[in-house]
Amino acid sequence: MDFLSLLLVFFSAVTVSRAQVQQEPSAETSEGIGINITCSHPNVQPGYYIHWYRQLPGRGPTFLVSAVSGSKQVPDPEGQLWVSADRRSSALCLTRPRLGDAAVYYCAVDPRESKGD
Ligand SMILES: *[C@@H]1O[C@H](CO)[C@@H](O)[C@H](O)[C@H]1NC(C)=O
Repeated sequence: MDFLSLLLVFFSAVTVSRAQVQQEPSAETSEGIGINITCSHPNVQPGYYIHWYRQLPGRGPTFLVSAVSGSKQVPDPEGQLWVSADRRSSALCLTRPRLGDAAVYYCAVDPRESKGD
């Protein structure tokens, strides 16, 4: 395993006034050591999507995964998105992070209603 640790930086973001999200400022892990990146969105309304993005250094944000409830596999970076049963929080689990996964990870709440997911 590499001795360098990954620095995962999270930003808080606000989409609309009733759909705020809150994240930890930052978290660290080492290569290959799984980590959950959590996001709190207590005002999420029924049917709203929860999206996760990441921004690698010097790049624009790219979409990773979204869900309304339950969990979803993420192919790259390898992991899973979990939405809590009450939908007030979600977590992006990176199961085997690599150095190249050091990035800013954002969550966002999308006020467009899903058509069933
Ligand atoms: C992340 O959270 C999920 C759900 O609570 C849990 O099953 C999993 O073991 C956690 N993974 C890590 C790396 O902490």
